[in-house]
Amino acid sequence: MRAATVERWRADRLDRRVREVRERARHLPAEADPDMALQHNTWDDVEIEEEQRTRAEAEVRSQHRAPPAVAEACVREAALRWDAHYLQNIRNYHDRKYLHNEFPPLRAPLGKAVILETGCGVGNTLLPLLAAHSAVRLVGCDLSPFAVRCVNERLEREGLAARGRAFVWDIAAPPPVDQLQPHMLQADLVLAVFTLSAISPDRLGTAFSNLYDSLRPGGRLLIRDYGRLDSKQLKFCRAPNGRLGGEDGLEWYCRGDGTTVVFFTLDAILALATQSGFEVEDLRYDRRLMVNRAQHTRLYRVWVVAVLRKPMDNGKASKHTTFTSRRLPHACVRLWGLATETRRARHSMLALVFTVLVSRMAAPYCIQTLRRAALSFRA
Ligand SMILES: C[S@@+](CC[C@H](N)C(=O)[O-])C[C@H]1O[C@@H](n2cnc3c(N)ncnc32)[C@H](O)[C@@H]1O
Repeated sequence: MRAATVERWRADRLDRRVREVRERARHLPAEADPDMALQHNTWDDVEIEEEQRTRAEAEVRSQHRAPPAVAEACVREAALRWDAHYLQNIRNYHDRKYLHNEFPPLRAPLGKAVILETGCGVGNTLLPLLAAHSAVRLVGCDLSPFAVRCVNERLEREGLAARGRAFVWDIAAPPPVDQLQPHMLQADLVLAVFTLSAISPDRLGTAFSNLYDSLRPGGRLLIRDYGRLDSKQLKFCRAPNGRLGGEDGLEWYCRGDGTTVVFFTLDAILALATQSGFEVEDLRYDRRLMVNRAQHTRLYRVWVVAVLRKPMDNGKASKHTTFTSRRLPHACVRLWGLATETRRARHSMLALVFTVLVSRMAAPYCIQTLRRAALSFRA
């Protein structure tokens, strides 16, 4: 077989595998006896039991917060800490091959779509997506320079560098101008898989706005992240200096290695999304019960899943966008209001607007007449 045919066959097989969806069909009956849960390792759509929920809420609320200096250091040194995290754990990361289960936009034919993956880490989402969709272009970004280097090396090794690359960008800060190419600000899809939870709550609004600005009108932001009262949150609740801050629904914790994590409610995601101008297509919890059958223990896992769309008309102003797009129209309206408070001021304002309009319309004729006069003078 010729190389091109082999390549097409391989891409086609991968494409088909990516479109196979796992049904969420393993449900634990409400009145099931405790032993029934031990029949499987995981159960779908299981809510945390009422008694455990009350206990968990009390634990979350009663935890003391770490001194502000601890939180400040976490933000200041975030890039260094993520570098160290990957140096320590590089072998613990496995490729994510389930994302098409969560996100219908990833199951549709993607053609030559441009995808921006934010917080791409060492490429466990980016590489499988590139391999599975034979024409898409994927750009990854991450705060950690070490992670970005790993992605670019792996892209070269796997022969995918022509369609993918990664660069360093803290998505809660303006994008780096030297790395910015026009197609990146017109992405069809932006992915944030366990990335937004790594950003401190006070910087999340700016991060959402930057992701909004990276999409073309009609493009989608796909989010999968930690949900409130996930079993991991309850683990952090017991650690001294574990809680850094954040309000209900954006509770913010420090891991043992100094990297941080936020646990979201749907309301918190909804507020951030709508303030940035997104329309919500899908927003839900993904809840699962994980059973350790040997030790008879249960873990309630909670994730948030969202598909947000940038409106076609790009009409909604973002709460966090630039001065010109957000405040200038308000400033004009305010100025008009102030200037038209008295009758005389109102008349002067109208006269001014009239003069400006007439002079704008008359300017081309004046210029033309002057040019003609100059030509006839020269002749
Ligand atoms: C929990 S990891 C998830 C990595 C990857 N998305 C995955 O699912 O395997 C969070 C990632 O977000 C990155 N990150 C943290 N803060 C960031 C920021 N402000 N801008 C961009 N990336 C950030 C970290 O370096 C890290 O790679």
